[in-house]
Amino acid sequence: MKNNTRWPEKREAKKIAKKSFREILLAYCRILAALGLFIVMVPGQLQARPAKDTQETADRLQWLRDAKFGLLIHWGVYSQIGREEWARDLLQIPLAEYQKYAENFNPVNYNPTEWVKLAKEAGVKYIIITSKHHDGFCIFDSAFTDYDSMGARIKKDLLGMLVEACRKENMPIGFYYSIMDWHHPDYLPRRGWEKDRSAKGADFNRYLKYMKSQLQELVQKYQPAILWFDGEWEHKNEDYDALGIGQMLRQLKPDILINDRLFNRAPGLGDFGTPENYVPATGLRKQDGSLGLWEVCMTMNFNGWGYNHYETEFRSGPQLIRQLIEIASKGGNLLLNVGPRPDGTIQPEFVERLRQIGAWLKVNGEAIYGTEPSIFEKLPFFGRCTVKGQRLFIHLMGWPQDKKIVLPGLKNKVEKAYLLANKEKLGYSKKGKDLVIKLPTEPLDQTATVIVVEVEGEPQAEPYQLKPGSTGTLELPIYMAEIKSQMGQRAYLDYFYRTTMLTNWQNINDYPEWEFELDKGGTFELLASYAYQWGGKSTFKMEIDQQTVVSGESGTSPSVYFPATHSLGQIKLEAGKHTLSFRITSIANNNALKLEKVILKPIRP
Ligand code: GLC
Repeated sequence: MKNNTRWPEKREAKKIAKKSFREILLAYCRILAALGLFIVMVPGQLQARPAKDTQETADRLQWLRDAKFGLLIHWGVYSQIGREEWARDLLQIPLAEYQKYAENFNPVNYNPTEWVKLAKEAGVKYIIITSKHHDGFCIFDSAFTDYDSMGARIKKDLLGMLVEACRKENMPIGFYYSIMDWHHPDYLPRRGWEKDRSAKGADFNRYLKYMKSQLQELVQKYQPAILWFDGEWEHKNEDYDALGIGQMLRQLKPDILINDRLFNRAPGLGDFGTPENYVPATGLRKQDGSLGLWEVCMTMNFNGWGYNHYETEFRSGPQLIRQLIEIASKGGNLLLNVGPRPDGTIQPEFVERLRQIGAWLKVNGEAIYGTEPSIFEKLPFFGRCTVKGQRLFIHLMGWPQDKKIVLPGLKNKVEKAYLLANKEKLGYSKKGKDLVIKLPTEPLDQTATVIVVEVEGEPQAEPYQLKPGSTGTLELPIYMAEIKSQMGQRAYLDYFYRTTMLTNWQNINDYPEWEFELDKGGTFELLASYAYQWGGKSTFKMEIDQQTVVSGESGTSPSVYFPATHSLGQIKLEAGKHTLSFRITSIANNNALKLEKVILKPIRP
């Protein structure tokens, strides 16, 4: 494994690593003595110290909280296969055969300065790159293995080059590191299909030593801002000494940030949560209910994180911009992924989308970076809110027919309202507890036009509850639903000329849910308004308070874009709070209906 005779510089590096470890240890002892900290030594390791929620932790996290938008880069020898980063496992490529990719890796067009330039153009505020993915190949110069970019044809420290380019541009950089390692002889378990690799003689503790040495090496050598772990799920925290590793990293670099996956996402241990390819309906909450720091990692394409030569499906630029807004309005970050090609260039589909986001951020970045989540529980139009000091930013994604929007229950006195992009002043008036803002006839930006509302004092809004209108009819528009989802979210909201619908509904786990309140009970007719996707019938059901109340079948709407209302049955409901969810039960032709709203209409006896 460690063939140090082939690379004498590796031996040298190892010596340096050992030496610097001693120095670090000494420095650490000095710091401890100076700070008068008491850390109980237990044999072989230091006592665990989880990230505590102190002022110090809050300050440490602030830059990441403010950054809002990061770039994730999945790049390694798998990129040559062009079937995403799991290629070796998905295609069951024996280790000996995969070796040729490790040896031949030769990204001659790799220009890290260009990457950083692109990131800056996109408006990205930090970069995370795969230092080592599940396949075990390291894109940095590691003293502890030859399975690295120094041992490949390129013979360059690819990671080091990017670090340098980032430093020049003041771009914080962090490293993805996979705990799972399909190459190291001591990592267990083997892949299920790997009949040619016996586990005999493998010693997981030896692997742990290797992993810790590499992590220490990465931190000492490159001083990353973040360590972003993954591939933890095959083991429990105790198996790989997660707490010990966290402790080691925080001692080596006290301001380092560590994601939750080092700790198998156990609450309270990582610095931030990492929902993958979905936006949590209400943001990620801590155990006490307060908002935690979280970052949605998301791909632009749908099949994989590493380069996929055969990919045909991409989220659009506008969709990604709206995702960023949605995430910011809930207090999170978007970590958007690219998988560069094997030669080191980034495919045009990614570049184009990054530039589209950058162009929008150039005009509207003020409404994203450094903002706080929305003060409104719900907005009665297709839009989202972010907040900075005494300014509210309303990101309007559809343009209401009546050219006005209502901010429900805004408690503050308003000083002015204007469009962010051109500072054009907007008229407004108070109507009861609500603020009504008049809009120009056309949006400035179809994707999202930002309206600034400057208020007196700290922005505050009354709690909001969806209730029937004066006629007793309750409307549940899709933009007021929480879209519940899990990894692999496909459905999203989109504006179709005059209305907003949930579209691209091809994952059964995505569904909208509304909470509403009835002042009095009664019998209601249940209706749903949707447009139907050609090509087959999808089935659905509606649940109220977790009980299925109706089921239905799509297929009668006259247009794919223009919704029609369908009566689905009657239900009896008591006064009080209820939740209603609309779930797809089967999807025809890879696309269910487009849902506009659900309506509960009282039936008079
Ligand atoms: C998953 C995948 C991995 C990818 C990661 C990004 O864990 O296994 O390939 O790197 O998601 O979050």
